[in-house]
Amino acid sequence: MKIGILTSGGDAPGLNAVIRGIVYTGIQVYGHEFVGFLNGWKGVCEQTATPLERAQIMGISKQGGTILGTSRTNPFEFGGVPRVREVLEQQGLDALIAIGGEGTLAAAKRLTDEGLPIVGVPKTVDNDLSATDYTFGFDTAVQIATDSMDRLRTTGDSHGRCMIAEVMGRHVGWIALHSGMAAGAHCILIPERKTSLDQICDWVTSARDRGRAPLVAVAEGFSLDSMTDVHSERGLDAFGRPRLGGIGEMLAPLIEDRTGIETRATTLGHIQRGGTPTAYDRVLATRLGMAALHAAIAGEWGRMVALRGTDIFTVPFEDALGKLKTVPDERYDEARILFG
Ligand code: F6P
Repeated sequence: MKIGILTSGGDAPGLNAVIRGIVYTGIQVYGHEFVGFLNGWKGVCEQTATPLERAQIMGISKQGGTILGTSRTNPFEFGGVPRVREVLEQQGLDALIAIGGEGTLAAAKRLTDEGLPIVGVPKTVDNDLSATDYTFGFDTAVQIATDSMDRLRTTGDSHGRCMIAEVMGRHVGWIALHSGMAAGAHCILIPERKTSLDQICDWVTSARDRGRAPLVAVAEGFSLDSMTDVHSERGLDAFGRPRLGGIGEMLAPLIEDRTGIETRATTLGHIQRGGTPTAYDRVLATRLGMAALHAAIAGEWGRMVALRGTDIFTVPFEDALGKLKTVPDERYDEARILFG
């Protein structure tokens, strides 16, 4: 077989391990041939492809990012089904393995609905894709966020400050929940649970009253239960403009004003997606890559690989689309016991 591979959407630590898992197994066990498309669907539509052989995948499972590059290009804006079909034919490909998040998998579903031979590998550091227990990259992001919070805690302790760590998570709070629990945050704020400023300040002052420098973990997609709190109290900057910045920066002056505790916010941003993947992510990504190859060999078009417990299965693309995997109330309530 000759198989094409693409990585699409935001990068996640472990992408290279997936590529290696596919190509290594395909060459070593089956003698298949591989090409990589550069920069996601853009590379497919523009037919910028590069051969993937043993030399290209040597030692890459420990590298962050993706050797193929990525983009958020939608193939339906660049020729859609006829163009992708034409490129697969011109490249002599029997299958395409698309590694990406919801947007990538949605495009892959539309293409397979029209008869194109595609299997998927789910990817997101946010861990919000349904139909798979964990996505690779999440464990690395949680580890980086936890290490960062441990560091924020020692500087917060030294100054008696409240420290806010804003982590990734546009729609769900998995990274905030896990890193906040691991770092012993006194307050974890996630998009799934709107919370009042009064409640946040209660948690912060009670940590301070116990002699602790308060640590707040907040997901970027969190909002207060009443956004009017923010608009009325957020204030203007030195130039009379509304203060800009993420939710962490927005919360810092509100908490400081209400509690009298000096407060600093740090946005971790893309640091959470950079650098080497954890061992867990390397193993998970490698296994997902191998399973995707086997799905392609079996002709399981329109399906993606997924982790259930410790086993990997394939599920239809639609199982992962249109419904985010949010943090269940019981998981949040469990963490909340630890706020003190
Ligand atoms: O979906 C993954 C994610 O890392 C989100 O947590 C974050 O909001 C977004 O991607 C950032 O996207 P970009 O890299 O395009 O700025």
